[in-house]
Amino acid sequence: MTILGIETSCDDTAIAVVEAHSTGSAGSPQGSSGQAPAFRVLSNVVSGQVETHAAFGGVVPTLAAREHAKNFAPVLLRALYEAGLSSPEDDKKIDLIAVTTHPGLMPSLLVGVHAARALAWQMEKPIIGINHLEGHLAANLLPEITRKDTNVKTKGHEILFPAVALIVSGGHTQLVVMRDWLEYEVIGETRDDAAGEAFDKVAKLIGLPFPGGPPISQLAAKSQGTRNKIQDTIKLPRPMMNKEGYDFSFSGLKTAVLYFVRDTYGTVENPDIPEDAKAALCAEFQQAVVDVLVAKTVRAAKEHGAKTVMLGGGVAANSELRRQLGDAVATLPQSPIYQLPTAAMAVDNGAMIAAAAYLRWQQMTEPDQAATTWQDVAVQL
Ligand code: KG4
Ligand code: ZN
Repeated sequence: MTILGIETSCDDTAIAVVEAHSTGSAGSPQGSSGQAPAFRVLSNVVSGQVETHAAFGGVVPTLAAREHAKNFAPVLLRALYEAGLSSPEDDKKIDLIAVTTHPGLMPSLLVGVHAARALAWQMEKPIIGINHLEGHLAANLLPEITRKDTNVKTKGHEILFPAVALIVSGGHTQLVVMRDWLEYEVIGETRDDAAGEAFDKVAKLIGLPFPGGPPISQLAAKSQGTRNKIQDTIKLPRPMMNKEGYDFSFSGLKTAVLYFVRDTYGTVENPDIPEDAKAALCAEFQQAVVDVLVAKTVRAAKEHGAKTVMLGGGVAANSELRRQLGDAVATLPQSPIYQLPTAAMAVDNGAMIAAAAYLRWQQMTEPDQAATTWQDVAVQL
């Protein structure tokens, strides 16, 4: 099955063409073997808007929608072209359209959803609305881009249930227990800022560009080799790390960074922080976030007897989180599978929306599949 995946929930206009292959029995995304469906990513085009929002230090919803409207057609044409589907009759080769309907910024979602509905109507194809967070989970099943001239053998990942998944993005921080692909329960979430949001806000405070995750982790890496006196003097809190339950809170951590900067450099308006001190601060901040995320995920995996531990969302691109969670999971008595998306698939993209749509599609009955027309898909709040 060939799926066109469309994602515009925040500030990335992202469209992908993904080929899906079933490995399980009908009606279930995976058989008892634990083998998940296999995917080939034929194209995965992402157009970001960092410059548009840079001056505002965060995403401005109406500006994001305007950029999506401007970029949608070129991104679509490029995704089709890269997948080898650029002639007019090639649209017959698309079997299903998938689009993010929630959660996200309303103006941004509207652009993608209405464009997807128009495509489904014009191409007479079925269309499924997708929960963005299910997309981040499905990203675990995606390989990197598959060049169309290679005939790469596809094999589904092995995923055993129950699974515990940590979804960490710019908008969400959730711990989820999954009994099957689309059967899950949220057992914990952030009470204030999301993990990625904390990276973004701290970056802004110390004069690093948006989004803050990549520059903070790059600077932190610089200080790791030379763990020095400066780093020993910065001790940030690990909010809610040892509290019962699985909720998170990151706004206090951001405030602790703010107080540290104010007290050490006398101001929070363009503070003059020497490069080595900035690197040390980034390392301690990143470690505080990673400590909390790892501790809670491992505790949830233990309590729920997880056979797989999974990561998803933009913060899952963080190499320290990937490494340290893997090390902690390896110490669990039940030796779960540790499954994580590639860094490219961890951040927002259209391929993950296509993959989530395939999991949904497989669980639908044929009459339901036939009834998924453009009129049934709308933005959800
Ligand atoms: O999932 P995503 O692309 O968009 C949302 O759904 O929000 O996540 C974006 C978030 C941003 O907050 C960004 O700072 C963070 O992911 N991020 C990272 C890294 N790469 C992206 N955070 C920490 N380390 C990274 N390497
Ligand atoms: Zn996301």
